[in-house]
Amino acid sequence: MDFLNIAKQRYSVRSYKKKTVEEEKLHKILEAAHAAPTAANLQPVRLIVVQSEEGLAKIGKAANIFGAPLAIIVCADHEKAWVRPFDKKQTCDIDASILTDHMMLEATELGLGSVWICAFKPDIISREFGLPKYLEPINILAVGYGDQEAADPNRHSQTRIPVSQLVSYR
Ligand SMILES: Cc1cc2nc3c(=O)[nH]c(=O)nc-3n(C[C@H](O)[C@H](O)[C@H](O)COP(=O)(O)O)c2cc1C
Repeated sequence: MDFLNIAKQRYSVRSYKKKTVEEEKLHKILEAAHAAPTAANLQPVRLIVVQSEEGLAKIGKAANIFGAPLAIIVCADHEKAWVRPFDKKQTCDIDASILTDHMMLEATELGLGSVWICAFKPDIISREFGLPKYLEPINILAVGYGDQEAADPNRHSQTRIPVSQLVSYR
């Protein structure tokens, strides 16, 4: 599948089959994360792969992951992230989100569904997974075999603002 097709076919899956994600597919998803760029290549991101019943129950205290059998908590390391010298902006949210996007699109390529989750209680994730202070959970990517009708890959003309509004040329 070419990239644009993958990008258009991806949609947020909010209902999952019980089926476990195969080890081989999980490794490819993690490989996609590993290939992602980060500012100054500082790689201030750590991934927590959660598949056990116990781990998923812990996530369930902080977020709705819609019954997905696999969740990847994407954490940013505030002590390692690049800081822009001009205004001290730290790029760790950006870095963490690029990895998340890479994994999400790889999941699509592998025939898996996913949903990006930010609506979680970060303090509960930090407590349940014993995260050190410098690691902030930024995103949770829920992954699994979708149990809902696929979204139309041509829906974006209706579900997104027009390209003319998105883009300006100066
Ligand atoms: C940064 C970010 C945070 C999101 N957080 C959530 C979330 O907490 N819960 C959820 O159900 N979907 C979440 N989503 C999914 C969006 O709602 C979804 O991508 C958007 O509505 C477009 O729909 P589509 O993914 O099906 O194209 C998030 C997406 C992004 C990019």
